[in-house]
Amino acid sequence: MNKITIAIDGFSSTGKSTIAKQLAKTLDYIYVDTGAMYRAVTLYAMQNDFISDEKFHSNDLILKLNNINLQFKFNPSLGFSEMYLNGKNVEKEIRTMKVSNFVSVVSAVPEVRNRLVKQQQEIGKSSAVVMDGRDIGTVVFPNAELKIFMNASPKIRAQRRYDELIKRGENISFEKVLKNVNKRDYIDSHRKSSPLKKAKDAIEIDNSNLSLKEQFTQIMLLINKILKLE
Ligand code: DC
Repeated sequence: MNKITIAIDGFSSTGKSTIAKQLAKTLDYIYVDTGAMYRAVTLYAMQNDFISDEKFHSNDLILKLNNINLQFKFNPSLGFSEMYLNGKNVEKEIRTMKVSNFVSVVSAVPEVRNRLVKQQQEIGKSSAVVMDGRDIGTVVFPNAELKIFMNASPKIRAQRRYDELIKRGENISFEKVLKNVNKRDYIDSHRKSSPLKKAKDAIEIDNSNLSLKEQFTQIMLLINKILKLE
C-alpha cells in the first residue's frame, strides 16, 4: 500500500489546516477541512434564522438538514478546495467571528455530526486523504494509518487567530478572540457527541514553539516511516 489516511485533530487555531494543506500538496493527496463543513452548516442556520438573539433552534435545523448541500471544489489558483453551500462559494463567510461564535453549539448536535461524518467517510473511502478536524482519528477514521494531535497554548492560538482576522479586515479585540478560543475549547471537548480528545494511538505535537517547517519535517518523517513499513 502506498496511500494512507492521515487524520489531524486538535484544538482550534493549532495550525492544523496549514500543515494539512502542505502535506496534501506534497503527497498529492486530497485535503478535507471538516471544520469548514460544520461552519457551512452554521452559516446555513444563521441565514435561515435558526440562530437568532443568541438562541439556537436546533430542531428547526435538524428538520432542514436534507436541504443542505455541501461541496468542496478545487481552486487551482489557490491549490486547495473551497467550501460551497448549496452551490455558492462561502469560504469567506464561514470564517467570520460570527460563525466562529456559534459553530461549537451547532457541531454539538448529534444529527449534524452523524450526517457530516458519513460524508467525510465517503470522501476518504479510497485513502490518499489528509483530513483535519476534532474527531477524525477517533470517530471518522479510527483505523487511519497516521493520527496527529496538534496542540498549542490558548494564548498563542488566540494570537494566531487574531492576526488572521485583523488581516482579513475584521474589527476585533485580542481579548474577544481569546475568549472565543477558550469557549470553543471547552464546548468542543465537553460535548456528549464525539468530544474532542486525543486518540490513544495519536502522536501529539505541541507547536507553541515550532516553526511550520519543523512541524512539516517531523510529520513527513512519520509518514515515510509508515510508507516504508507498508
Ligand atoms: O477547525 P475549525 O476551527 O474551523 O472548526 C470549527 C468548529 O467545528 C470547531 O469549533 C468544532 C467543530 N468541528 C467539529 O466539531 N468536528 C470536526 N471534525 C471539525 C470541526
